[in-house]
Amino acid sequence: MTKKESFQLEFEQHVEKGLSAFPKFLSSKYIYDDRGDELFQQIMALPEYYLTNAEYNIIHQYKSELRALFETTKGFDLIELGAGDGKKTKVLLEEFHVHATNFTYIPIDISQHAIDNLSTSIKNIYPKMEVHGAQGTYFKVLEALSRFNKRPKVIIVLGSNIGNLPHREAIDFLKQIQKIMSPEDTLFMGFDQKKDPYTIQSAYADSTGVTQEFNRNLLHRLNREMNADFTVHKFEHWEAYDPENGTAKSYLIATEECEVTIKKLNLKVHFNKWETIHTEISQKYDDLTVEWLAKESGLQISQIFEDQEKLFKNYLFKKK
Ligand code: AVJ
Repeated sequence: MTKKESFQLEFEQHVEKGLSAFPKFLSSKYIYDDRGDELFQQIMALPEYYLTNAEYNIIHQYKSELRALFETTKGFDLIELGAGDGKKTKVLLEEFHVHATNFTYIPIDISQHAIDNLSTSIKNIYPKMEVHGAQGTYFKVLEALSRFNKRPKVIIVLGSNIGNLPHREAIDFLKQIQKIMSPEDTLFMGFDQKKDPYTIQSAYADSTGVTQEFNRNLLHRLNREMNADFTVHKFEHWEAYDPENGTAKSYLIATEECEVTIKKLNLKVHFNKWETIHTEISQKYDDLTVEWLAKESGLQISQIFEDQEKLFKNYLFKKK
């Protein structure tokens, strides 16, 4: 089975399970086809979506300090999980380029489209930079990463991507990274912070409706790839942030009772009026929670970086 076929099979099994469950769910990881990538780009440009600028501010502010922390006499492999368009990473790449840092950049993303665009754009800006992009899901890619052990690794996961995972899964994810880390390796990861609930709510329920389109892309995707017949505009985006546990949850809500056929799966799904599909969580953190996650995963925090508006933090971890 090719990689594409096994992804498709996993996707189909997930949809079958999620839409037969009560309450219904679908994973946000399936939002990201070409259209989903494009919609996420638009989200990052929204004034309400503060995360990207905040993390950009951190990287820009601390780039030389980070370079000093990452550099070794043997050089290093810079492995990025969920590289996307690389906008923030390019600040680091520029810093490394200017200082003739010895490193190889290995961007990894679930989207082949993102990897191709990023690799091409880096080739244009830095023709001599060593770049080896790879497509895959985090868990699959992590296995392959254990091969990179000839020199220190710097693993970076930006954008609070970890926030899409409930704590238990986040710990599994961190543990898998921990397992392939050597004592000299570093993990640099972004965690969006708990803050004024209004700020979080607006970041995920923007006034232009881009986030709604992003969320709805799941249904468009089922229509396109699995021959489903969702009347997509009858499913509305809903965002609920719980300031107690820091979890922002996204839903698609059926505004009318309906019956949807997913031909490819031979599946009929009934929706009551106001029935929900839970599609995404975007977890918000504080230092205590991140310390707990680290402890559970055999990691320890060695440094914390914060943006000037105090919205977002990047944590540096070492293997414990
Ligand atoms: C890509 C997971 C960081 O949860 O903030 C943005 C995705 N969803 N708006 C996030 C997202 C709705 C985003 N991450």
